[in-house]
Amino acid sequence: MALLRFFRNGVILGSAEIEEDVPILEIADQAGIEIPRGCTSGNCGTCLVKLIQGEVPIPDPPPPGLDDYLIEDGYILACICVADAACDIETNPPL
Ligand code: FES
Repeated sequence: MALLRFFRNGVILGSAEIEEDVPILEIADQAGIEIPRGCTSGNCGTCLVKLIQGEVPIPDPPPPGLDDYLIEDGYILACICVADAACDIETNPPL
């Protein structure tokens, strides 16, 4: 099974198995890893995290909480993005 690994400031916090159609935020919750959140619908940007390895599909069109320049820099919104392969995620993105 593919794993999501969560990091904070480059230090691994934990990992959890990817589940089909389950957003990254929910998988983090199940693993006991706290990611800040607000709307949980892709609008506010509070759950912004950065992919440090792997790929996660971005919804098309991109949600309001995720600007193009952020996408280019590897950021995703944990509340709506779903991983379909192993990924490493920094939960404290340096913005
Ligand atoms: S919690 Fe608002 S965009 Fe994810």
